[in-house]
Amino acid sequence: MNQRGQAQISSSTQTVADQRIWVAASNQLVDGGYLRLDIGHAGAIISVIVFRYQGKCLAYRNLCVHMPRELDCEQDMIFDPTGRFLRCSMHGIVYEPMTGESVSEICSGKRLTPIGVLEDEEGIWIDDRLASPLAFTE
Ligand code: FES
Repeated sequence: MNQRGQAQISSSTQTVADQRIWVAASNQLVDGGYLRLDIGHAGAIISVIVFRYQGKCLAYRNLCVHMPRELDCEQDMIFDPTGRFLRCSMHGIVYEPMTGESVSEICSGKRLTPIGVLEDEEGIWIDDRLASPLAFTE
């Protein structure tokens, strides 16, 4: 857990089942909380944010539409102080959590890249046809 009580998932905790990538047990992701992990995606390694908003698990590539920065690059959080919008900590663009669309004047209408995620009785998974677990060598 980090200082704000958000779990940091390291790449080494990922496992594969039916091509899905394990994220966490459901009780590790409270409403308004987020987890981040690195995955393979279309041949690159990317950072992903997985969060719960109004009870629903959602995931986006952790990459602002304004500049190539992670949303939590300056502060260890992805929501604005109200908890209503996602917010990039670099220059403050805010996004609609359900769609990933910027609702700020700057970059208005641009969207975060969605990543497929599902939640079942076991927990939360990345489930995206372009995603793959990272391979590790000792
Ligand atoms: S880099 Fe995200 S708002 Fe500028």
